[in-house]
Amino acid sequence: MKYFALTGALFIGLILAPLAVAQQELYRPPLGDIMGKIQLRHIKLWFAGKLGNWELATYEVDEIKASLETAADLYRGIPAELVTNTADPIHAIMAAIEAKDGAAFAKGYGDLTIACNACHQGIGRSFIVIQTPTASPFTDQSFSPPKR
Ligand code: HEC
Repeated sequence: MKYFALTGALFIGLILAPLAVAQQELYRPPLGDIMGKIQLRHIKLWFAGKLGNWELATYEVDEIKASLETAADLYRGIPAELVTNTADPIHAIMAAIEAKDGAAFAKGYGDLTIACNACHQGIGRSFIVIQTPTASPFTDQSFSPPKR
């Protein structure tokens, strides 16, 4: 009886240990994938702000902030100042949205884009160059404020 309990425990351990490892892997998305999402939000943020859909702009900038925090959390090798560089532009964008100030929004957006590229350069990825988008690839989403 004791023997069975012991092998049972061992068996469960053998099954669970690799599962736990696999789970940890599951919860660490590749940095390139996190960045891909940030890129989508960076594009959407631009058109939301440009068209004055301030609620959507708030949503997108919050998502960018959260994704950058996740990236810094999961990838501790990234130098801290390259992450904190993005904080001031993000706050400036949030203040511009709050004030519904299009010019301040565009300025903050430009500064955020500079911070994106500063990290890419600082981390040996200077070939990844982000710019202000010229057209939305999201033809299924309207960025204008909803008609109420
Ligand atoms: C703190 C550092 C850091 C910041 C800030 C940062 N990135 Fe990145 N980004 C990276 C790294 C590192 C990679 C390369 C990931 C890899 O090699 O797996 C990358 C890759 C990318 C890629 C390439 C993904 C692809 O599939 O083409 C895009 C696009 C991107 N970043 C967009 C952005 C945007 C937009 C911002 C700003 C809103 C930003 N990044 C800010 C570190 C950063």
